[in-house]
Amino acid sequence: MLKVLAAFFAVAVVSSSAWADSATNIKGRGVQVQDGAGLYQHLCQGCHMPGGVGARGAGAVIPALRANPKLGNATYPAYTLLHGFGGMPSFGKMLTDAQVASVVNYVRTHFDNHATDTIDAAAVKELR
Ligand code: HEC
Repeated sequence: MLKVLAAFFAVAVVSSSAWADSATNIKGRGVQVQDGAGLYQHLCQGCHMPGGVGARGAGAVIPALRANPKLGNATYPAYTLLHGFGGMPSFGKMLTDAQVASVVNYVRTHFDNHATDTIDAAAVKELR
């Protein structure tokens, strides 16, 4: 398991300095960015890549968020963010309910995902 996590981290660090920036934010002042696009850039694209195309390397697979049918229901990505699973880190302690809602709404309406509904902070709170 540790080896797998290290592999994910290697991918993240090599592929983008954005993740390094966000790690600093997390330790210091919490995440200041509020909008979905900004949150995606700071926290997600280091692993899931620009455009949400995902990544593969060093035995690690980071799923594409692009055209991903699992984003059809907002609960799934929101729960995944809050609690993490597998190689996906948990963002529950780092982000407010509103921040989780905005990044979930962002990925569900970008990268060839066409959700017509949104999730709000109150619904995120219920999933904590
Ligand atoms: C350190 C790398 C990393 C970061 C940063 C990261 N993810 Fe992930 N994410 C993963 C991995 C790895 C998985 C697959 C986990 C598994 O299947 O075990 C995953 C899975 C997911 C899934 C489920 C996809 C599916 O098809 O089941 C969603 C949704 C998701 N991530 C969204 C996000 C969002 C939004 C962010 C930013 C807030 C983010 N991730 C940040 C590595 C990362």
